[in-house]
Amino acid sequence: MRKKIVAGNWKMNKNLAETEALLSDLKTKLGKTEAEIIVAPTFTNLYNVTEALRQADIKVAAQNMHQAENGAYTGEISADMLKSIGVEIVILGHSERRAYFGETDALLADKVNTALKHNMMVIFCFGEELQDRKSDNHFSVVENQLKNGIFHIDASAWKNVILAYEPVWAIGTGETASPDQAQEMHAFIRATIAKAYNDTIANEVAILYGGSVKPNNAEEIFAKPDVDGGLIGGASLDAESFAAIAKAI
Ligand code: PGA
Repeated sequence: MRKKIVAGNWKMNKNLAETEALLSDLKTKLGKTEAEIIVAPTFTNLYNVTEALRQADIKVAAQNMHQAENGAYTGEISADMLKSIGVEIVILGHSERRAYFGETDALLADKVNTALKHNMMVIFCFGEELQDRKSDNHFSVVENQLKNGIFHIDASAWKNVILAYEPVWAIGTGETASPDQAQEMHAFIRATIAKAYNDTIANEVAILYGGSVKPNNAEEIFAKPDVDGGLIGGASLDAESFAAIAKAI
């Protein structure tokens, strides 16, 4: 059985006090859910959040990481730094990193290698832009992002990978892929992995959907057989809506 996962990407939101308030709210509101819950606060709050969640059933992810081990990279954060404060999961390849910070597939391939070398869990994000979908190129764009960013890893490394399909046109826009569009792409992703690796890996990897998932649409998206949960942006900043999404799994 594949894992079900609901992850909250808090992006560049919430200072320390706000983060702590959201966390305690979340701990009381989450209740029982079948999903593994992950939250990704900003770098400055990672240590406090990791400490606050030591006894809780919520895991912590970083939103980004540098590919080098250490060195003269002013402003950057290494895998070892994350691991040293107990962060075992990292989001890589988010479309905002690709679009605003010039992260390419080749760079992401390096970051994936570094994270896996440090035995971290990678949440690898990818997804097409609106013009790709309009021109009916969305499948080939996604296939290339996978081939160039992550299909170089060993078969044995897939146990440390979670995929997050996030169509760029649906992120923060209030426009979601329809459940059928999400299912169609998730099935394609699984078939592409089966071709490049094998059926077992394709069937075992969790593929999350991201892009304007809200309490009122989560259930029908999560009900699709190849959708194993969600990567939630805006709606994860409010404990009540994030909890409602987690319950929708
Ligand atoms: P959104 O963001 O839920 O606000 O659309 C999703 C994401 O960027 O991961």
